[in-house]
Amino acid sequence: MTTLSDAPPKVKANPSGFGAEITGVDISRPLPAPVLAAVKDAWARHSILWFPDQPLTHDQLEAFTLQFGDFGWDPYVKPMEGRPHILEVRRDPQETASPFGGAWHSDWSFQQSPPAGTLLHAKIIPPMGGDTLYADGYAAWEALDADTQARLKSMKAIHSATRPYGANGLYANEPDGYRAMQIINSSEADKIWTHPIARVHPASGRTALFINPIYTVGIEGMDEAGSEALLTQLFGHMLEQRFIYRHSWAPDMLTLWDNRCALHCATGGYDGHARVLHRTTVAGEIPIAA
Ligand code: SIN
Repeated sequence: MTTLSDAPPKVKANPSGFGAEITGVDISRPLPAPVLAAVKDAWARHSILWFPDQPLTHDQLEAFTLQFGDFGWDPYVKPMEGRPHILEVRRDPQETASPFGGAWHSDWSFQQSPPAGTLLHAKIIPPMGGDTLYADGYAAWEALDADTQARLKSMKAIHSATRPYGANGLYANEPDGYRAMQIINSSEADKIWTHPIARVHPASGRTALFINPIYTVGIEGMDEAGSEALLTQLFGHMLEQRFIYRHSWAPDMLTLWDNRCALHCATGGYDGHARVLHRTTVAGEIPIAA
């Protein structure tokens, strides 16, 4: 007999196939193997999953994360006290600083093995604004013509944390004002790493455009003007409206996104209200070239 805990999850995908709601599971407890396999399958198909109405303690958020792999490495932001793997994404009502993560990016793409996934669990959600935007890197890749795809397959992009987190980065130079999150600027962030622009996902086998406007700072072997022109063109393409899904939050919702094939961007629009979410990452592999 099938009980609720081992019944297959209900998967309600967006019409584009990019993003899906998962219900009929209780993620506060370890998922039975077939249920976990079905969730992973949905993740590989839809890239962004959200699970509404899932109150979680810190222990439960960590335990759910570990069902997808080891914790990722989360530098440059002070984690929660006693919880080295949980970041509190917090913006207080009196804050006027830009939202954390408020520029298009793929989490920590400047690492040798960037995190495969990120989990964000909503605690306090403002009455308006605060959506998260996601851009589909597969659809952007698949919409390119064959000649452009062939050219990009031989290219590597240069990634670095320098713009936001470098010793002289954006966060270090913020105008005076209160920010609830503690950002740790460091010259470590000025290091670079190269990754293929066309990245193959190990689970889906599909290719995605793997660049992002905040951490991708150049293209290997190209001069500054040439790489800036090409990156500007590619960012314009991958952030076209047709590739974007806007996600609205509710308290106790958990969202899991795939950094290997999707970009995301936090939005504002809720000044005067608090927004608090808890974030973990899942370790990933060295990006595989197409
Ligand atoms: C992030 O980039 O991790 C934050 C996303 C959000 O707060 O919507």
